[in-house]
This record gives sequence, C-alpha cells and structure tokens, in this order.
Amino acid sequence: MKLLVTGGAGFIGSAVVRLAIARGHQVVNLDALTYAACLENVAEAAQSPLYAFEQADIRDRAALDRIFAAHQPDVVMHLAAESHVDRSIDGPGDFISTNVTGTYTMLEAARAYWLARDKPEAFRFHHISTDEVFGSLGATGQFTEETPYDPRSPYSASKAASDHLVRAWAETYGLPVVLTNCSNNYGPFHFPEKLIPVVILNALAGKPLPIYGDGSNVRDWLYVEDHADALLLVVEKGALGRSYNIGGENERSNLELVKTLCAILDEKRPKASGSYADQITFVTDRPGHDARYAIDPKRIREELGWRPSVTVEEGLARTVQWYLDNEAWWRPLQARAGVGQRLGTKA
Ligand SMILES: NC(=O)c1ccc[n+]([C@@H]2O[C@H](COP(=O)([O-])OP(=O)(O)OC[C@H]3O[C@@H](n4cnc5c(N)ncnc54)[C@H](O)[C@@H]3O)[C@@H](O)[C@H]2O)c1
Repeated sequence: MKLLVTGGAGFIGSAVVRLAIARGHQVVNLDALTYAACLENVAEAAQSPLYAFEQADIRDRAALDRIFAAHQPDVVMHLAAESHVDRSIDGPGDFISTNVTGTYTMLEAARAYWLARDKPEAFRFHHISTDEVFGSLGATGQFTEETPYDPRSPYSASKAASDHLVRAWAETYGLPVVLTNCSNNYGPFHFPEKLIPVVILNALAGKPLPIYGDGSNVRDWLYVEDHADALLLVVEKGALGRSYNIGGENERSNLELVKTLCAILDEKRPKASGSYADQITFVTDRPGHDARYAIDPKRIREELGWRPSVTVEEGLARTVQWYLDNEAWWRPLQARAGVGQRLGTKA
C-alpha cells in the first residue's frame, strides 16, 4: 500500500512512518517542518527505497495537488497539526489556520484526486484526532465514539472542527473516510516541550519538575508505537465512515505519572543523594485545564481486535531509557523557540 502521511516528521507521524516502512508499505511523508518537526525521527526509514519526503504546507493547495499527482497514494493518513495545548492558549491563530483550514485544504485536494481517479474503492482519508474533542470527565466514566463533542481549549476546538469537516466531506461528497480519536501519547522522539520529556530532561538537569495545579488531572497514556500499530490497522481494516477511540487503558494522574518517572530515573541514573521526586514543584494551573480524559476502547478491541501491548510502567521505562541514550537527539531541540519556557499563561 502507498500511504501519504501528513506530519510524518512529528512525534506520532514519525512512528507511523517507521512502522509502515518496517511493514513494507510505501510512504510519502508530507511535512512543512515547523518548530515541532524533526527529520531525524525518520532518519532510518528514510534510507529505504520505500520512503519519499515532500516538504509542503497542508494549506498550500497547489503543492498538495502536485504531490497527489506525483505520488498517487492509495490512502491518506492525516496527522499534520499544531498540537501543543499551551501554545494554542498563547496563539490560537496558527491552530485555526493549520488544523481547520489545513484539514479543509487536504480534504479538497484528496477529493479532487479521488474523483480524478474515478473514486477508487480502496481509497481512504484517515483523519487522526484527539480525545480532547470530548471535553473533560469527572471522576468516573469514559469517552465512547458516541460521546458528544465538548472541546474546551483552542487546540481541542480546532481539532473538533477538523473532525466535523471530515465527517461532512464523507456525508456530502461521499469521500471514503475513517477517523480515530486517541488519548495522550508518549514514547521515543516525543518533542521536549510535552510533560513526559520535560520531566525526564529537567530531572537530569537538576531543574524543578513543574506540575500544573495540584497534579490531580488524569490522562490515559498510550505508548506511541502501540498507537502507530492501531492507526495502520484502522486505515487497512476500519469500516468506512467509522470512528475509533484509541486508548492505552493506562489512566494516571499527572502527579502519579511524574512520581513513576522519578522512581524509574532513581533506579537507572541515581542521584548523588535523595530522589528526583525532591525536584517536584507545583506551578500555576493551565487555564481551562481538563480534569480527566479516559477512553473506552471497546469498539477497536471488539471490531478490529486491537489492544495496547505495553503497560504504562513498561512504556515509561523504555521511554526514560530512550532519553538517556539519545541526548544527541533532544539536546539541540531544547534551543527551539519556546521550548523550556512556561507557555499557555496568556489567557
Ligand atoms: N501527541 C498526542 O498525545 C496526541 C494525542 C491525540 C491526538 N494527537 C494528534 O495526532 C497528530 C500528531 O500529533 P503529534 O503529537 O505527532 O504532533 P507534533 O506536533 O509532534 O507533529 C506535528 C507535525 O505536523 C507538521 N505540521 C504542522 N503544521 C503543518 C502544516 N501546516 N503543514 C504541514 N505539516 C505541518 C509539523 O511540522 C510536525 O512535524 C495531530 O493531529 C494531533 O492533534 C496527538
């Protein structure tokens, strides 16, 4: 199968690219290379004759038309997006532009390509989205595919809008789509502005480990390689027009998560004295910080037979080891704009 993957130089997109190439698929990686991109994430896959790269912006219709015509993909996996909630609070414009207008432009380019080829039956536009579109849960309950949308941050609102566009293009134009909404990902190549890498790298640098609010916010952690596996399964076998929630079945509060990371670091790279947990520092909460996300993964489990393969403890241990072994990857990224600074306070 030939996949056109947007955002393939980002965190999740690069995991999809690596896995797809390893499984013998052809991949065209389309990425604008924003601050969040890193082509080293796909350096090994890029050696393969199955791999091609196109630097392009998903808002650039002419570039998209050229890329579709040149590569003739069988399916599209659309991951390119602005993805950091804190940045969406300080500067929502980029999120509306890329996530909403960019998805619209992708849909129109994909539709024109699909029509020009006489609507190939196997064509799919797979839109990758987030559980954040469903809003915030209380102490109990889980998001199902039927949960009404209730986004609460500029990021999640822009992703919700993009999901609506994808469904509208399916209903109105018959574009063959599948959608997925996943929980928080973590793992190798996670950009060092997100919670888990920030905690690991600040711990190693002897800096405070910032916890927003009281650390009680709960997330359902999904190992990125498990997610990539689920995405390839959905694009190949997912029912037309259907959406699938993908979760890690690993709920943890932020405080529990950070304490687990500290315990792993204490074992793998002990400090001269004390624990990394001594560096935990509570900071002002994120405005509108959703209390809890949890995914009910019943549909993807029962219909497609998918389950996450690693527990959060295993996944975090692998992730910590990866950051210990890959300083050459993360060190230069810490110099990029905004990384290492407290963002998302301009509400
Ligand atoms: N990270 C998570 O935990 C998570 C959870 C749920 C859903 N998602 C969704 O998964 C997708 C990938 O997330 P991620 O964490 O890998 O993001 P990321 O920020 O790591 O990567 C995004 C990639 O998209 C590219 N990009 C951004 N704007 C672009 C544009 N206008 N044109 C072309 N390329 C552009 C960037 O250069 C980057 O390589 C996103 O759609 C995100 O909403 C992520």
